[in-house]
Amino acid sequence: MKGPKIRERPARSSHAPSTYIGAVGRTRVVVFSGAGVSAESGIRTFRDAGGLWEEYPIEEVATPEAWARDPERVLRFYDVRREAIIRAAPNAAHIAIAGLEAGFDVAVITQNIDDLHERAGSTTVLHLHGEIMKARSTADPTLVTMINGTSLKPGDRCVLGSQLRPHIVWFGEEVPMIPSAARIVSRADRLLIVGTSLAVHPAAGLVQLAPPHCEIVLVDPDEVHVPRTGVRHIKGSASKGVPQLADEWLSEKT
Ligand code: OAD
Repeated sequence: MKGPKIRERPARSSHAPSTYIGAVGRTRVVVFSGAGVSAESGIRTFRDAGGLWEEYPIEEVATPEAWARDPERVLRFYDVRREAIIRAAPNAAHIAIAGLEAGFDVAVITQNIDDLHERAGSTTVLHLHGEIMKARSTADPTLVTMINGTSLKPGDRCVLGSQLRPHIVWFGEEVPMIPSAARIVSRADRLLIVGTSLAVHPAAGLVQLAPPHCEIVLVDPDEVHVPRTGVRHIKGSASKGVPQLADEWLSEKT
C-alpha cells in the first residue's frame, strides 16, 4: 500500500480533569473495552479479517490530513458508522458489564466511539477515542454538541460559525482523556480487558498502570499480548466470556 506510514499511535496526552475517584471501601472494577465488545452487536472491528481498516485506509478517513484534504469523505465515513451504531443494540457483554455495578464500583474505559455501554446501563464510561453521536467545533475543541439525526454535513456549523467535525480522536491527535483513564486504572482492584488487540497507543499502555495487586482478566477469542504477568485469558467471545466472569465475580459476594 502506498502513502504515508501510519504509526498506530493517535497521540500525545494532555491533562483533562476528572471527578471520578471511586467509592471508598468497595472493590474497584475497571473494564477496558475495544471494538470486540461491540462485534456481536453488529459493529465492525478494525483489525480482524474484514475489519474497517482493510476497506478504508486510515490515512484517507481518520487523520487531520484526511479531513483537510477531503472533509466530505471523512464525514461520509463516520455517517455510515453512526447509522450502524444507531441501529445496533447492546449485547450480553455490555449488559453484564453494566450488571457488575450491583456488586462493585465500576468504571468503563472504552476505545469505542459507540454508546452501547451507556445504553446497556453503565453509569461511568470514559471514551478515549471520542463519541460518534457528538460533533465538535473546528474553531474551539471545547465546543461539543450532540448530533441530531444520523449525519454531519459540510456547512453544519458551531455557534462560532465554524464547520463541525466528528468528536473523534484521529491518528496524530492528542488523547485528552488519557490522564483521567490512567488515574482510574492505577486504582483498580480488578481489570477486565475485553475485545481489544491492544495495538493502539497510548490507550494500550493503560493496562500497565494497574497496581501490582490487581487481578487482570482478558476476554478475547484471539491471543492478545497483555504486557503483564498472571493475566487470566478467557478465550472466547465477549457475549459468552463476560457474563461468565461477571457471574463468577458477583457470586463471590453472596
Ligand atoms: P481491533 O479491531 O484492533 O481489535 C479487536 C479485538 O476484538 C481483537 O483482539 C479481536 O480478537 C477481538 N474480538 C473480535 N470479535 C470479538 C468478540 N466477539 N468478542 C470479543 N472479542 C472479539 O479493535 P481495538 O483494539 O478496539 O481507534 O482498536 C483500538 C483502536 O484502533 C480503535 O479505538 C480505533 C482503531 O484505530 C481510533 O480510531 C483512534
